[in-house]
Amino acid sequence: LGDCAVCHTAPGGAPNAGGRAMDTPFGTLYTTNLTPDAETGLGRWSFSAFQRAMREGVSRDGHHLYPAFPYTAFAKTSDDDLQALYAYFMAMPAVRAETPKSELKFPFSLRPLMAGWNALFHDPAPLAPVATQSAEWNRGAYLVNGLGHCGACHTPRNALGAEQGGSAFLSGAMVDGWEAPSLTARSKSAMPWDADSLYRYLRDGHSPRHGIAGGPMAEVVRELGAVPDADIRAMATYLASFNPEPVPEATAQAEARRIVDTAARTQGQLLGPAQRMFDSACAACHHDGDGPTLLGVNTPLALNGNLASAKPDNLLRTILDGVRDPATRDIGFMPAFRDALDDRQIAELAGYMRARFAPQEPAWPDLQAEVARVRAAPGH
Ligand code: HEC
Ligand code: HEC
Ligand code: HEC
Repeated sequence: LGDCAVCHTAPGGAPNAGGRAMDTPFGTLYTTNLTPDAETGLGRWSFSAFQRAMREGVSRDGHHLYPAFPYTAFAKTSDDDLQALYAYFMAMPAVRAETPKSELKFPFSLRPLMAGWNALFHDPAPLAPVATQSAEWNRGAYLVNGLGHCGACHTPRNALGAEQGGSAFLSGAMVDGWEAPSLTARSKSAMPWDADSLYRYLRDGHSPRHGIAGGPMAEVVRELGAVPDADIRAMATYLASFNPEPVPEATAQAEARRIVDTAARTQGQLLGPAQRMFDSACAACHHDGDGPTLLGVNTPLALNGNLASAKPDNLLRTILDGVRDPATRDIGFMPAFRDALDDRQIAELAGYMRARFAPQEPAWPDLQAEVARVRAAPGH
């Protein structure tokens, strides 16, 4: 649930032995060795040292840790769960691996400044249960805001890198070149996220009413594979409470059909080079809502929140890089079009898809420049 191994494993390295580089707006940081090696890992750490790191962001020798390590969320974890985590790491094979030195820009390179940052932005108090909500909802709140650290990616940050509070909570943010969409009523999904859709998405990496986990969320869903069903349901119940009630009679297929019919009615048949490009390069695998499912899960694109988002990034990234590493194999794979299509062609295609699958939204401005930007930026 905490994705410890995702961040604390270098590409090709031993699990949890650290050394993965993390690019932050303030410079590059490296994850540390969590195996019980005495010299380079947690071998000499007492439980209270581990607990202090997880709650206060302070290392064993007293130096401050940066919030790229999501201790701001982990702080909400109960003592029992922290003890279980500590026991788990201490029982792992010890691996000797030095952590590379961080390369942060001045003044962010000054770790003691983090004491001030914590005073301003970090609340280490445990989460108070909400008496008016069910036990399942409270369990979901504990997991989403604690070990699950969903806000680390889904909540926008202020200029000093702290997650914003209030109505900004889980309202969507950019991470590793991807948009982590809003998980609240600000979601642009054609069909609201209800508890069942959220459960399916977190369990399988897709739901019949939304897009798929193909970017950074794919790793999260893979790690959630080890989390029991009851806990996934609890997170879904909690998150659903931030979304409007679903309309029961609207089926996914009917809603997808209604959206493309609206587009056809308001914009004519949309015939032109972009539609021909879509029909030849994409339509074999992507239909409008009532065609056969040939490859993968094939959710109608009209239900994909990425098409309705204010940012074209996730759509452009999918076209450029395809779906290479989906959360589960049954989602299916999609080829990359980076080399097959140039910036102008992808811009035309994306503009056409916006008009057809999200006709209620304004056209994305400067699409060709956006394609060039996303193409040049390293993706996940
Ligand atoms: C999003 C990436 C990320 C995730 C997820 C993550 N960590 Fe870390 N962790 C880091 C980074 C980066 C550092 C180093 C921070 C620094 O040097 O200031 C770190 C540091 C630590 C430290 C301090 C080690 C030391 O030597 O000072 C501990 C302990 C730790 N993490 C435990 C965990 C545990 C346990 C989990 C899972 C529950 C976890 N981390 C999940 C990124 C992550
Ligand atoms: C490492 C960053 C990261 C973390 C941590 C993370 N997410 Fe995501 N999430 C994303 C990104 C990026 C997307 C966009 C889709 C993709 O990556 O394929 C996404 C997509 C989603 C979606 C689909 C939204 C939509 O409208 O399509 C849901 C639901 C979701 N995440 C829930 C969660 C929950 C619950 C947690 C905590 C257990 C979580 N996420 C943790 C990055 C993250
Ligand atoms: C060989 C089959 C295939 C072709 C060709 C193909 N796709 Fe896909 N595409 C997939 C599969 C499989 C998925 C993942 C399952 C799903 O979303 O239906 C996917 C997913 C997507 C998504 C959703 C990604 C997300 O994060 O939710 C978009 C958008 C997309 N494709 C656009 C395109 C466009 C545009 C083209 C043509 C340039 C194209 N696809 C061509 C198979 C294909």
